[in-house]
Amino acid sequence: MEKQWWKESVVYQIYPRSFMDSNGDGIGDLRGIISKLDYLNELGVDVIWLSPVYKSPNDDNGYDISDYQNIMDEFGSMVDMDELLKQIHDRGMKLMMDLVVNHSSDEHHWFVESRKSKDNPYRDYYIWRPGKDGTEPNNWTSFFSGSAWQYDEATEEYFLHLFSKKQPDLNWDNPTLRKEIYDMMKWWLDKGIDGFRMDVINLISKVDGLPSAPGGKQYDWGGDFFMNGPRVHEYLQEMNREVLSKYDIMTVGESPGASTDDAVKYANNEGTELNMIFTFEHMDLDSGPGGKWNVKPWKLADLKDVMSKWQNDLDGKGWNSLYLNNHDQPRMVSRFGNDKEYRGESGKMLGTFLHMMKGTPYIYQGEEFGMTNVRFENLEDYNDIEIHNMYMETVVKGDADHNTIMEAIYKKGRDNARTPMQWDSSENGGFTRGIPWLKLNPNYKEINAAKAIADPDSIFHYYQQLIKLRKENEIIVYGKYELILEDDEKIYAYTRTLENEKLVVLCNFSAEESPFELPKDFELDTAELLIGNYKVEAGDSVNLFILKPYEARVYWLK
Ligand code: NOJ
Repeated sequence: MEKQWWKESVVYQIYPRSFMDSNGDGIGDLRGIISKLDYLNELGVDVIWLSPVYKSPNDDNGYDISDYQNIMDEFGSMVDMDELLKQIHDRGMKLMMDLVVNHSSDEHHWFVESRKSKDNPYRDYYIWRPGKDGTEPNNWTSFFSGSAWQYDEATEEYFLHLFSKKQPDLNWDNPTLRKEIYDMMKWWLDKGIDGFRMDVINLISKVDGLPSAPGGKQYDWGGDFFMNGPRVHEYLQEMNREVLSKYDIMTVGESPGASTDDAVKYANNEGTELNMIFTFEHMDLDSGPGGKWNVKPWKLADLKDVMSKWQNDLDGKGWNSLYLNNHDQPRMVSRFGNDKEYRGESGKMLGTFLHMMKGTPYIYQGEEFGMTNVRFENLEDYNDIEIHNMYMETVVKGDADHNTIMEAIYKKGRDNARTPMQWDSSENGGFTRGIPWLKLNPNYKEINAAKAIADPDSIFHYYQQLIKLRKENEIIVYGKYELILEDDEKIYAYTRTLENEKLVVLCNFSAEESPFELPKDFELDTAELLIGNYKVEAGDSVNLFILKPYEARVYWLK
């Protein structure tokens, strides 16, 4: 086991647009983040991951970058950025920036040049192809619905965009482009940032010839031809040699469609590529055969299978990242817990479940006091391009009815995660004095950071403890994971073992009292309770072997 600071850290993700607005324009900004650093420090997190803050026309809220070395006007300036970095470091925390280099914005000067003519020096920075039989070069569909190709009249060719048509894919097969990216990364690292979260980094290498997805459909999922593509490891190793290996930093690669075999290459112990990746397997457990919007109930047995597979397959070979929500996913308590009568209990249970696993935990803003999914009645109240494109593709074309799609949006839409932070119960949750760019979740008067801080029994204070425990106990970081009570339909239980010490983690994923029986050599009566989400008052009669609704307990076995 090799010790590393990034294995021992807890990361907190900020979605800057929705975090804190300092100037009243309704949009979160860098000065707003600075004003909340003490809050994050109090929570105890080590690393802040900032979703993109670079110049962007905001077709996909900053994931479409028009200048990698400048700051988005609404967010502030490079002076603010330098100040933010300094203030983070002054508090003993680190800063991880988002690196979005599978694609740029179509307003990046590289693309502005590239589209001008076929012999422009920047032409080959992007992926241009002539049409086939008067239509797109292949049948790939984009992540945001419709074709992944856009016709451009100036040169009468199509360019590839796996996301929106304002996010053209960069051509990583071009060494000049790769060098530009490495230089840009070094520029940021020389400023002193502490790492990168790499956006869909496993999509950067496309299969030669860009073959159509088989089956003859007009538009189809072409993932086999661009996820974990033929040269992706070569490019990441080059990036590692040229850039990453020269700095003491942390890297995590967002990797849809990566298996654990892929993960042990990306996040290998020799450190030739990245430190860890984000898997999507547990995020797909509630997707039916029709994909993300074809929502089906998830099963605890599947969660056990997927999480255990990632814990076991990477053991000793790589490193896991641990998350249950982020800016692209529904809120954790609404999806895996109970956002009504057991919001507090289930928020803490899910935190326990995740923070006690082997890997680096990621907290998404608002998770630490149990923010929930939102239900806006009108489609117009949603901002996300993915939601609007999908609605156009399905309802407007007559393939689905409005109500079914709205229900899917309530469950899976990305704006669930993007409603502004609920700081307190004042107007607009204390997020802005202006008009928020996206409406707040109307429950902000009940659920907010101020309330959580004032209540010693809140999720916030429980998270503080979880984070502290990881710092005090090596076993939580480095211990080996093992699933127990495999067949229990309500309880997810596992152990962590380091040398001759053992923790047992018990999590009730149901709203019912759930009895359980542990293997013989587990003596709870003499074990020390490290943390738990129910208070036991003196005089309470407790049955050690029944978990209350959404109860979580962690024991140190003696
Ligand atoms: C993944 C990001 O997390 C998501 O927000 C974005 O829309 C796509 N990549 C495209 O950059």
